[in-house]
Amino acid sequence: MTDKTSIKDIYKRAAVDYDDNFENLLEPVWSDAIDRMEITAHCSILDIGCGTGKIIQRIMERHGHHDLCIDGIDLSQEMIAAAKIKFGGYNGNRIELYCQDAMQYLKNCEMEKYDVVVVSFLLAYIDSSKLFPLIGKVLKKGGRVVIVTTSTDHTKECEKIFFGFALRNPTYFNWWTIFSKPLSLVAPIKKIRKQIWEAGFQDFEGKLILTKKTFDNFLGFLYWSAQSGYTTMYYDLLIKDKKEEAMAALERYAEKNFIYFGEQVKIGKPFNFTWPVYIISAVKTTGEKTV
Ligand SMILES: C[S@@+](CC[C@H](N)C(=O)[O-])C[C@H]1O[C@@H](n2cnc3c(N)ncnc32)[C@H](O)[C@@H]1O
Repeated sequence: MTDKTSIKDIYKRAAVDYDDNFENLLEPVWSDAIDRMEITAHCSILDIGCGTGKIIQRIMERHGHHDLCIDGIDLSQEMIAAAKIKFGGYNGNRIELYCQDAMQYLKNCEMEKYDVVVVSFLLAYIDSSKLFPLIGKVLKKGGRVVIVTTSTDHTKECEKIFFGFALRNPTYFNWWTIFSKPLSLVAPIKKIRKQIWEAGFQDFEGKLILTKKTFDNFLGFLYWSAQSGYTTMYYDLLIKDKKEEAMAALERYAEKNFIYFGEQVKIGKPFNFTWPVYIISAVKTTGEKTV
């Protein structure tokens, strides 16, 4: 897992244009995730790692008439600040946003407080085997967890290009950082499913959405991923004063060695980025576990 100081640093920068970077790409994902929450009147909802509050904003657009209580938690002050400016005019609903570590919040939170808990793009930063039992604690019986996450396969694609390049181009890398700083790892979907079941959930449903975005060229994709928090941890390992040079070298490396979802990278040509995103929902058991 990435350490908390690095996460804060990544999202301090990402907060500036996070919404612009992800708005169109993730729209179908957020919409599907909200469908699965099965929100009804007076629902209490917790968004863990809420970021700039895009999901809460979408929930309010669709269910603002439902007199909801929503709490959002995020480690990054800047992401929470970007969320806060969105929620001036939602009278009748209660929205509270806290800058706090999610695990700390969940440990201190009263039991069975929420009808719905959503966790979107957080599993790269938190050990899901420890997170899910705490979500079980704060959910009411019969309450629903909705998880949005990248697939491990995709993480591996990124790791493949990054480490392949790093091994061939040591001059561009801070090797000490590579060995001392563990990269994020999202558990495979099968493992996530097992962890959810062990934490006392049932009625597991999963869906894969292939989100898509076209960039003018591969370099544009690299800069987007470096800025957006999406693969920042990889690119942060590039030696900072050689970043541009390193990015161009990484593009040349990709053209020679990297086929991404069946597409050959071509320098100067448009690059079609495909990002597989899983949406998983499950219900907290009301009694005995069922298989
Ligand atoms: C990729 S963003 C996702 C934001 C939002 N959920 C979304 O779907 O747009 C990941 C967020 O998780 C937050 N985060 C990472 N580790 C955290 C932790 N331990 N506690 C709370 N938030 C954390 C980051 O600050 C960041 O805002």
